Amino acid sequence: MDAKRETFEIRLKNSATEIEALLDALLSPTVLSDEIARPDLLRNAMHYAVLNGGKRLRPFLVVEAATLLGGNRQAALRVGAALECIHCYSLVHDDLPAMDDDDLRRGKPTVHIKFDEATAILAGDSLLTYAFDIIAAPETDLPDRSKTELVLALARAAGLGGMAGGQILDLAAEKHAPDETGIIRLQAMKTGALIRFACEAGAIIAGASSEERQRLRRFGEKIGLAFQLADDILDLTSDTKTMGKATGKDAARGKGTLVALHGMEWAEKQLRQHVEDAEELLHPYGEHAAMLKATARFIADRKS
Ligand code: IPE
Ligand code: IPE
Ligand code: MG
Ligand code: MG
Ligand code: MG
Repeated sequence: MDAKRETFEIRLKNSATEIEALLDALLSPTVLSDEIARPDLLRNAMHYAVLNGGKRLRPFLVVEAATLLGGNRQAALRVGAALECIHCYSLVHDDLPAMDDDDLRRGKPTVHIKFDEATAILAGDSLLTYAFDIIAAPETDLPDRSKTELVLALARAAGLGGMAGGQILDLAAEKHAPDETGIIRLQAMKTGALIRFACEAGAIIAGASSEERQRLRRFGEKIGLAFQLADDILDLTSDTKTMGKATGKDAARGKGTLVALHGMEWAEKQLRQHVEDAEELLHPYGEHAAMLKATARFIADRKS
């Protein structure tokens, strides 16, 4: 492995450890002010949904984007933890029988299998809500204006016009295959929006100029496209053991993916192009952006 890739992997691992410690503390039994009680069953399901492995790529992007632009690392970790709560909620609901009906996630039984469906639905609901709590809470050391911007950007990325909207388009696409534009849009929503938010959040945390915010946002959009393309390729080429989740399901369900539309060779080439475009966007930062550029490459080269 080359030295750069090794540095990247160590840094990703260290950031994951920090994020996991923070998430564990946030999901402790200690009741917060204005909470009445933390029911054990729900808290355990949330803890299981969040602290069950996972690459922690989205929090890493928040921290690295904030670092690049001189943002407060502790605040970035909290915003990263908030985003990971929303990502994990999206996975819990994505795996439900009414959606993708999956039994395995991150190499372990999915939340509705380990607990039950009602608990999985409520764990998802509570994780979604908790994300906004984590950002707004006084422990997140940012000006109120930045917190408002983060809350607004995250709400837009996660809701009707973002991830949740993308998920309903994704389900509809099993029945009527969309055209290329339709696929790109649904993927930009279901997966891209949270990844774009991760990068843009770094700029908000750092109080960066609107030009820098826009640049990070475009970088996020590019790697978001790359991320789902890689996920769709891996669904075809990898296996359950490596991925920790069922594979080969997209074709079986007739999912509208770009791989299904254009074939593997095209998809691999397109993936390379997205990574090049993403790296190019960070050109103005030179070597300072080495970690974010390595993340773009990791997204394309990842094996799980
Ligand atoms: C999986 O996301 C779901 C998609 C958006 C395709 P990740 O591949 O980031 O999942 P974890 O968090 O590492 O398990
Ligand atoms: C999931 O896409 C995207 C979200 C959870 C928002 P997929 O359904 O392709 O993700 P996997 O393959 O189950 O991880
Ligand atoms: Mg799905
Ligand atoms: Mg799924
Ligand atoms: Mg998938």
